[in-house]
Amino acid sequence: MTKHNIILQPSGRRGQIDEGTSVRTAARELGVEIESICAENATCGKCMVLIEEGRFEKYNIDSKRENLSPVSIEEADYFSRRPRLLKDKGWEVGQVRLSCQCKILGDVLINVPEESRGNKQIVKNFALAR
Ligand code: FES
Repeated sequence: MTKHNIILQPSGRRGQIDEGTSVRTAARELGVEIESICAENATCGKCMVLIEEGRFEKYNIDSKRENLSPVSIEEADYFSRRPRLLKDKGWEVGQVRLSCQCKILGDVLINVPEESRGNKQIVKNFALAR
């Protein structure tokens, strides 16, 4: 199976992932948990990630939005119902993706925003347990 280079920021985790794997699954394989409360049904938006574009010499990759599967109807629907979110963050669809929906087709560098990182609950519970 064809594999592609995936780099996750800010953790710096990286590795080779099978083509066709969802970004959320790829992140898990690389040790980065991304939030989900909708069982990957494109309805919770907890799994949003940002796709960085350009040449990343350090990793020897060209990261492009086209290296992920096209924005699905479900993703487009999710974002079209939340224009305020995109405006407030300054994001555009294609730059921001639902990681449960987009599949890897080539090398890509992905930024996992703090609100999408899945370790928050553990940290919080740990803090409460002390
Ligand atoms: S996991 Fe809910 S939208 Fe992706």
